[in-house]
Amino acid sequence: MYQYDNYDQTLVNERAAQFRNQTERFLKGELSEAQFLPLRLMNGLYVQKHAPMLRIAIPYGLLASRQLRMLAHIARTYDKGYGHFTTRQNIQFNWPKLEDVPNVLAELATVQMHAIQTSGNCIRNVTSDHLAGVSQDELEDPRPYCEIIRQWSTLHPEFSFLPRKFKIAINGAAKDRAATQLHDIGLQLVKNERDEVGFEVLVGGGLGRTPIIGVTIRPFLEKKHLLSYLEAILRVYNRYGRRDNKFKARIKILVKELGKEKFTEMVEAEWAAIKDNLLLDLEEIERIRKFFQPPPYETLTDDPPLLEKTAHDSRFAAWFRHNTVPHKVPGYRVVFLSLKTPGKPPGDLTESQMDSVADLADRYSFGEIRVTHTQNLVLADVKQADLLELWQEIQALGLATPNIGTATDIICCPGLDFCSLANATSIPIANGIQHIFDNLDYLYDLGDIRINISGCMNGCGHHTVGHIGILGVDKKGEEWYQITLGGSSGKDASLGERLGPSVSKEQICLAVEAIFQTYRDQRLEDEAFLETVRRIGMRPFQERVYGDN
Ligand code: HEM
Ligand code: SF4
Repeated sequence: MYQYDNYDQTLVNERAAQFRNQTERFLKGELSEAQFLPLRLMNGLYVQKHAPMLRIAIPYGLLASRQLRMLAHIARTYDKGYGHFTTRQNIQFNWPKLEDVPNVLAELATVQMHAIQTSGNCIRNVTSDHLAGVSQDELEDPRPYCEIIRQWSTLHPEFSFLPRKFKIAINGAAKDRAATQLHDIGLQLVKNERDEVGFEVLVGGGLGRTPIIGVTIRPFLEKKHLLSYLEAILRVYNRYGRRDNKFKARIKILVKELGKEKFTEMVEAEWAAIKDNLLLDLEEIERIRKFFQPPPYETLTDDPPLLEKTAHDSRFAAWFRHNTVPHKVPGYRVVFLSLKTPGKPPGDLTESQMDSVADLADRYSFGEIRVTHTQNLVLADVKQADLLELWQEIQALGLATPNIGTATDIICCPGLDFCSLANATSIPIANGIQHIFDNLDYLYDLGDIRINISGCMNGCGHHTVGHIGILGVDKKGEEWYQITLGGSSGKDASLGERLGPSVSKEQICLAVEAIFQTYRDQRLEDEAFLETVRRIGMRPFQERVYGDN
């Protein structure tokens, strides 16, 4: 894991002190609301429905146990005893007092964490694959590049006031677990015909009110040019992106309006002017890569008795099958902790759970925890021989719901419960859908179904790329929901298609159930939900949900 050097540490310390001074001046009335606004946004502080909301970065989703313990301490001391993991590998606290935030930032700095650039019109937390470094389908670990971009982009003077926020994701595996096609810039590690590893560069993806899938503007970029190429893209965007209309300000709109060819031409021209002055030193890549060396694995073989244990207890078997995945090192396995316990807000973790998970990470997984963009946690390096014991401990914490990748593993934004922009509630809808499944066999029979819920078209819950997407809409002060089918954020990224008119709050869970039933009736053997939707189209689902007329 990356360790701050003196530069990093000084920077976050000074930043925390600077924000303390700004907050004090605001509280004394020396800064107006309008003057304070950009300053607080630069430090991840929103003013929300009930209280300020503080967003803290978890770079590429990687947390050390001591960092998670600090988050527990913050939840306990300054908030209401819980935190909310988001779809962008951040954590949000919903109830800090404004006067406490400088203390929170100072405490975070002691464990090398911060809230810099977690909001505002700048380059946001760089996200990545939660299985980076341990998955079997990986070409190269993307995290060193995320860290390099983090350092390059942090407080970058030229890119602190972009037309709009800017999100970068990097994926190094064959499967895309970082939704690279739905980011302002998506980087996919690829090999060229000479067997060299570099980046495929995608630009202009994004969700929100105008969802668009990104386009490839460079099929292969040499590693040494990574920063100069990013700089060229951002310069073109900074110069030509719309600043007159917030809804047209994202780079996706610029790419769309100029067209891919013209946009690429402009980037290439800018790049030609700067590429030789901003080379990413290969030694620097090596230096950063050293922080991401594999932990000291033991020499083990895959554990055959595990299968016996699995057969012995059907609950363990279900957990093993759904909440763990293979590891590239023999004798190890990757474990997901489900933050989707029915009846609980998706993505929430209490302070005592945080402390316990930190302890489990120390005992079973080299002291590291990862946060997934689907709002779950991962212990990436668990010995297979420890799985049964670990499962018992996770169960006691309420984090062993065996539902990863199933219809109850729902991505969900805070909606009307916390967000002042919401049109409708989201968390109760997620809970309502989870309650359809009083029987796990039914859940497993449906297989891989991603349900994503947002309380408004800003799309924080990624509804447009859910296999089933649910979007809250306001109809004369009442909560209604629009349904889309067929979205995906994986390699085969696609935007969902609208099923039909929105349905009422009373009807939404019934409608989702009707969609499940249609799938069960129509699927071919072993056909996943998304494949069935793509094969048969909307019609059969519409007939079942809305009746024949
Ligand atoms: C509670 C306070 C929140 C507020 C006020 C808020 C506000 C917004 C706004 C205004 C947008 C639209 C941005 C645009 O169109 O460019 C947005 C997008 C987004 N937000 Fe939130 N959000 C909140 C919480 C969350 C949470 C809890 C999550 C994660 C669960 C989240 C993740 C996202 C994501 C992934 C997008 C999509 C951006 C894109 O790719 O275009 N937000 N949010
Ligand atoms: S999607 Fe809308 S309701 Fe949900 S958190 Fe984002 S802005 Fe709020």
